[in-house]
Amino acid sequence: MSQISIKHKNPLRGELTPPPDKSISHRAVILASLAEGRSVIRNFLYAEDPLSTVGAFRQMGVEIEVRRQNSEHKEEMSPTEILINGNGLSGLKNPEGPIDCGNSGTTMRLLCGVLAGQPFSATLKGDASLSRRPMKRVIGPLAQMGAVFKSDNGNPPLTVTGGQLKPISYKSPVASAQVKSAILLAGLYCDGITSVLEPEKSRDHSERMLRASGADIKIDGLSVSIKGRAVLRPFDLTVPADFSSAAFFIVAGLIVPGSEILLKNVGINPTRTGLLEVLQSMGADIRLENTREVSGEPVADIFVRHSSLTGIEIGGDMVPKSIDEFPILCVASAVAEGKTKITGAKELRVKESDRIAAMAAELSKMGVRTEELEDGLIIGGKEKLGPAAIKSYGDHRIAMSMAIAGLMTDGETIISDTDCINTSFPGFIEILDRLQKS
Ligand code: S3P
Repeated sequence: MSQISIKHKNPLRGELTPPPDKSISHRAVILASLAEGRSVIRNFLYAEDPLSTVGAFRQMGVEIEVRRQNSEHKEEMSPTEILINGNGLSGLKNPEGPIDCGNSGTTMRLLCGVLAGQPFSATLKGDASLSRRPMKRVIGPLAQMGAVFKSDNGNPPLTVTGGQLKPISYKSPVASAQVKSAILLAGLYCDGITSVLEPEKSRDHSERMLRASGADIKIDGLSVSIKGRAVLRPFDLTVPADFSSAAFFIVAGLIVPGSEILLKNVGINPTRTGLLEVLQSMGADIRLENTREVSGEPVADIFVRHSSLTGIEIGGDMVPKSIDEFPILCVASAVAEGKTKITGAKELRVKESDRIAAMAAELSKMGVRTEELEDGLIIGGKEKLGPAAIKSYGDHRIAMSMAIAGLMTDGETIISDTDCINTSFPGFIEILDRLQKS
């Protein structure tokens, strides 16, 4: 189990291209596998989570070639291209043995949607963290459609027996892109129209990509519907850099005095960028440059400069738009002037770790006043952070957020159990080092 030590105190300066988007990489592999013909996915995220999705479709007989090139900065990721010969909606084969989804909730939940429509049974398993995560949220609607599940009271491992599905109109109790996407994927296997209504809008990458592949998708406010039995077209798609990975360096650039960073090619899909709005309301100097569209997703270069931040209250529909960014937002809040209060974010308790409990515990080790709420937390502002021995809880976003917090202390912060960073951001620590030496 590896650990990292944070002791540099230099400003962060220079440019980086964050790793490719994880959500889009997963979906591209899934849709290309279900399309009829050869797709190319450029700038794929070569990291553990999306590779679990690649492994799953290979196990179901899809031909997938992974090509890696040399990168410009040796510490950063080599660009990866994936070529997929899609088998069509009904061309998957029964996998031999269980499919290992590793740490990836997206792999497991989206696969449940695909497997619901197959004429075979398959078992999905995951690591210790994934085995604790709730799956009833996808089992419920997919069982209503006609799939049969065996699980450990709603936790993995799961066995899915697919079959002839019927369309449903599902009112989801949670704003979850994984639930929405699982139902839409299962909807491809139905005669008729399947729809999902969310309480707030979650990320819409599946809708964009399904539409581009030829599926008949309609979006009406918080409701999305799909007509079944589409023939999906193969595609050539370029994945933008992941806003959620960029977030660690956006906040680092804002809070470390003297910093100026340009983050290039970052996806700025409005269902993902709540953190930008929140930080700008806190007083952040952030500018979007060179805004453009790449493969159906908005993309920009993001320039950040050290800024004085003030605390804020966050809740409501801002929560799904920034759900993965709360750990790093907690770090920004700890050094901001005044309190920050986060509510309506109960979902944080069922991520790769209980992120409310984890951030409250680890930031308080650094001397930050924190108060846990059932659905969020209160963070006392303008703290002088002290070095500490930090745990990651096996959660990549806790590990990286606390590494950025470590930049604000006098002394050495050690973060243990940091292998998890490889699920989404291989090279994170090397990039942090490079920017501090620029
Ligand atoms: C994801 C959706 C979000 C997010 C996760 C990735 C996706 O989860 O937290 O990191 O790719 O669909 P929920 O759908 O559970 O909100």
